[in-house]
Amino acid sequence: MSRTPVTVTITGAGGQIGYALLFRIASGAMLGPDTPVRLHLLEIPQGLRAAEGAALELQDSAFPLLSHVEITDDPAVAFRGANLALLVGARPRAAGMERGDLLQANGGIFGPQGRAINEHAADDIRVVVVGNPANTNALIAASNAPDVPKDRFTALTRLDHNRALGQLAAALQSPVGELRGVTIWGNHSATQFPDVAHATAGGDPVPALLAARMGGTDAARSWLEDQFIPRVAKRGAEIIEVRGSSSVASAASATIDHVHDWVLGTGDGGRTSAAIWSNGEYGVAEGVISSFPVVAEDGAWKVVESLDVDEFARRRIDASVAELVDEREAVRSLGLI
Ligand code: NAD
Ligand code: LMR
Repeated sequence: MSRTPVTVTITGAGGQIGYALLFRIASGAMLGPDTPVRLHLLEIPQGLRAAEGAALELQDSAFPLLSHVEITDDPAVAFRGANLALLVGARPRAAGMERGDLLQANGGIFGPQGRAINEHAADDIRVVVVGNPANTNALIAASNAPDVPKDRFTALTRLDHNRALGQLAAALQSPVGELRGVTIWGNHSATQFPDVAHATAGGDPVPALLAARMGGTDAARSWLEDQFIPRVAKRGAEIIEVRGSSSVASAASATIDHVHDWVLGTGDGGRTSAAIWSNGEYGVAEGVISSFPVVAEDGAWKVVESLDVDEFARRRIDASVAELVDEREAVRSLGLI
């Protein structure tokens, strides 16, 4: 193995998702079995001990692909030479906090991190934001990194995509691996639109399979509107209620999937979902970071532009994009972008 290590910066590395991510990255699950990695762990001072503990365990795991671990509370050090940045650390909503307060607090994190990426990262830097509100945090980081192409800033909706696959697989009694063509549109929030209109299972159209299982098109449509869509869109809240804290392992796994496909290509897996900079595809407002149907080729996400959008889908997409536009206005009025 003679390849130059890829430098991966993980913010919030001492937190829950960080802990679930580090070992999978070091094992090669994210970048493949031939790519060595250097890990840069960024934490705030209170989180440094937890990150140090994780680094001790990384050493004890003796991963052949792990060439170096750096731990710091200085964004300039963390992002120096970074090829990939996984922005996980964020300010959670506290009791009594208004949305504006949350956006302001996160602007204080993602603005400086965007500037540090602009200043110190490698030319091929690719960023995925996991910390919530992920789409708008990604917009803040992108807006503060004027020298980095906008298409290098993304937000995670792969978790929503995977949740949709899990629900469909259960409803159709079909292996997840046979499902293709599911799309998450819009924001990583309860307004997102999980869309199966163009999905297939084992090559057969999902809407027809659902209708066959559920006794007709009306029953299938009711299941989609009343159960599937809200279940996927509110799954984060369901996990919080059942587990007592927000999703961790599934969020880390989706982050690995997102970066894996971005760097290595979606290939035979076909299209997936990622929140990327909008250039107005499908009538989505330009300059928000919205989830789209995408493929990845040669290290770049491309929106799959050939899908028909019916009136129902149009309303759902527009509602979620309207929320993204609102969030953009809010951070603009706070001077964060
Ligand atoms: P956590 O509280 O366990 O960990 C967050 C870590 O970030 C903490 O260790 C904290 O010290 C650190 N941190 C805070 N500010 C930082 C900063 N400025 N720089 C570096 N580190 C900083 O939380 P978690 O469970 O790991 O979740 C992290 C984030 O991911 C939350 O915002 C959560 O809502 C979000 N999340 C997103 C998705 C998604 O699909 N997009 C899914 C699950 C969770
Ligand atoms: C999730 O989708 O699991 C999280 O974004 C939920 C949350 O609010 O942390």
